[in-house]
Amino acid sequence: MVGFHTLDRFPALNDAGSGTRVLLRGDLNVPMRDGVVVDATRIKRLAPTIQELADRGCRVVIMSHFDRPKGKVVPEMSLKPLLEPLRVALGGRDVVFATDCVGKIAQSVIDGLEPGGIALLENLRFHAGEEANDLSFVKALATLGEVFVNDAFSAAHRAHASTKGLAQVLPAAAGRLMQAELEALEAALGNPSKPVAAIVGGAKVSSKLDVLTNLVGRVDQLVIGGAMANTFLYSLGTDVGASLCEHDMAHTARNVMAKADDARCEIVLPSDVVIAENLTEGATNQTVPIAAVPADRMILDVGQATAAALAGALSDFRTLLWNGPMGAFEIKPFDAGTNVVAQAAAKLTREGTLKSIAGGGDTVSALTAAGVIDDFSYVSTAGGAFLEWMEGKELPGVAALEN
Ligand code: 3PG
Ligand code: MG
Repeated sequence: MVGFHTLDRFPALNDAGSGTRVLLRGDLNVPMRDGVVVDATRIKRLAPTIQELADRGCRVVIMSHFDRPKGKVVPEMSLKPLLEPLRVALGGRDVVFATDCVGKIAQSVIDGLEPGGIALLENLRFHAGEEANDLSFVKALATLGEVFVNDAFSAAHRAHASTKGLAQVLPAAAGRLMQAELEALEAALGNPSKPVAAIVGGAKVSSKLDVLTNLVGRVDQLVIGGAMANTFLYSLGTDVGASLCEHDMAHTARNVMAKADDARCEIVLPSDVVIAENLTEGATNQTVPIAAVPADRMILDVGQATAAALAGALSDFRTLLWNGPMGAFEIKPFDAGTNVVAQAAAKLTREGTLKSIAGGGDTVSALTAAGVIDDFSYVSTAGGAFLEWMEGKELPGVAALEN
């Protein structure tokens, strides 16, 4: 595991007196609809770090991006609507807002903080220097604080001023959420209890090719689900009917399977599937063996036999890494396969025999819908960063924290 300072072992913070100004990078890029937060998970998971720093008498300056304003002020992308949800997550503590993240406005708000006080700065991406990791912008941020704490694992795949730049000019540490994410990932792929299984679902091989290629060299079993499985089945000569399938990726799929063979990683594909004429709620559907998909039907989920076999096989594993649903889980009844496997993983985790780590946008929704989100050992707050980590890539925001 990379060596980085954590909040309890961060000399720059321990040596500093009360009132130290901490620049805290969070990820408040949360789903919003009509100005209202629809999923506060990222806020809740950031709150303990804010509380810990405030309780230690620091002046806590929270920085985040929101959406992609591309270096301009876009009022709809202001972080101001996050102020109230943040207060709620902090048990009612006061948070003051600075309408700009650098310059006099930010400075005067921070100057007004008492030790233990908390400020939220406006969207970092209103300045082009943030995404460009421009040195003058890094310096403008750095003058606002004495130490830097990065708690935004979900933005760590970006080499931006507030993720990479600040860590290079200020004493830097990982916040509690960043620490938890990195420890969970280490437990999944760095130094896992073996044997290790991975479930990778989703629509496209093309978007997860690097994930699959990295995983076959690192896990003992790789279950491929979702429409991606269709491409693999097709590449083996199976007729997948009217299913979503990337025909031009057949060769790539065969390469992944050859690499898995060399690495002694078992690839598991569905043996039976749920099919329907179209993807609509409650559509008439049938379960058929994989060799019997009619030309005018689409594969929309794994079949019961496959789901039961996958669920049963999980008891052979000590570690499970999960990214992506098994079927078209947003539309019932095509969530059944995902639910069966997710519930089996949750049960083994509760019983203490399996360490289960999940991440990625759709995955969290699918596990929430399956009612198991709290049973998994760890569920990442990250989407893109989780994928890049599964690809085996170095995340610039993490690398910059290394001692
Ligand atoms: C995310 O939501 O995945 C992170 O906040 C990163 O956002 P970005 O993809 O706009 O950089
Ligand atoms: Mg995003």
